[in-house]
Amino acid sequence: MNIKKVAVIGTGMMGPGIAAVIALAGYEVTLIGERPDWVDDGLNKARALMDQLFQHNLVSATAVASGKLSLRGTDDLDAAALDAELVIEAIFENLAAKQEMFHRLDLLTPPETLLATNTSGLSVTAISELAEHRERIVTTHFWMPPHLVPLVEVVMSPYSSEQTAQTLLDFLRTCGKKPVLVRKDLPGQLANRILQAMIREATNLVQDGVATPEDVDSAIKNGLGIRLPVWGIIEHIDAVGLDLGLAVQNSVLPALNNESHAVQLLADKVNQGDLGVKSGKGFYDWTKRDIDALKQLRDEFIIQTLQFKASHPQNSVDLHRRTSSSLSQELVE
Ligand SMILES: NC(=O)c1ccc[n+]([C@@H]2O[C@H](COP(=O)([O-])OP(=O)(O)OC[C@H]3O[C@@H](n4cnc5c(N)ncnc54)[C@H](O)[C@@H]3O)[C@@H](O)[C@H]2O)c1
Repeated sequence: MNIKKVAVIGTGMMGPGIAAVIALAGYEVTLIGERPDWVDDGLNKARALMDQLFQHNLVSATAVASGKLSLRGTDDLDAAALDAELVIEAIFENLAAKQEMFHRLDLLTPPETLLATNTSGLSVTAISELAEHRERIVTTHFWMPPHLVPLVEVVMSPYSSEQTAQTLLDFLRTCGKKPVLVRKDLPGQLANRILQAMIREATNLVQDGVATPEDVDSAIKNGLGIRLPVWGIIEHIDAVGLDLGLAVQNSVLPALNNESHAVQLLADKVNQGDLGVKSGKGFYDWTKRDIDALKQLRDEFIIQTLQFKASHPQNSVDLHRRTSSSLSQELVE
């Protein structure tokens, strides 16, 4: 399948960013919204995100100019989907609504049209249940904010074809993304599974009085987390040595929380109405903290990391081409 035209459904938090990324890569993109004024809002958001990327030297002025020209909007879903070789759905997170959407898209479009859902938490197998041509459906889970975070998780259902998954991986690479293939449709996809395990242990440490929320976050922000953009977890275990890694796993794992539900402290806070930023209090007192400033800091850090990665391509693609002995030597140094 040669992808030239892409339709993105949804003008909420994710749709405009996804549309912006794809239009910047030179594809013709139609952003589909439910109402004409929401379409206009979505297009304006997408254009503003392109400008933001240019301001941070992450894309050229030429790419932004042609990206804006190749981005259109409509509230006519059927016409836009019929005209596209790839349709990416980014409507709200509701299984029945997504099942209905994929049933509609499946009836409407020829079987060669590729269909993708941006679901973060739902099963792509369940989402594609009502469709006949389920082989052309996968998840493409863009992370928030989609114009900045390189990761996209491509998740296969048992029905998805290898060709669909590989075409989407190639397509996302042409959009400057770093897609990963997730071959089983499991709760949490890939990176969220690791994050949820981290949240369980982080809240467990707070519950047991081992450390304060501030110190747990500080340990990650200033220790473990600071090297992760270039130092993967599996690379880490190879670098320290699998024998040492095995010994540490076997001594630490028995002391970790391994329950199959969230820690009691988290459930207690929810029952008390302490829901975090949205209620003013969670683990922290948000009446005294500024979430918008924190989000801005997060985005600035991501932008600087992207600039670093762009100027150090050996941190991604080139490293894989070296021999494993020279790689581990460099990592240890
Ligand atoms: N927000 C995040 O942090 C995030 C991150 C990754 C993935 N996701 C996933 O992306 C998807 C979209 O999330 P969001 O945060 O953008 O949602 P949102 O609630 O901000 O926006 C949903 C949009 O879908 C539109 N919509 C609903 N039904 C439609 C229809 N039939 N036709 C056209 N448009 C329709 C709504 O008008 C709205 O603009 C969800 O599946 C979500 O789980 C969200």
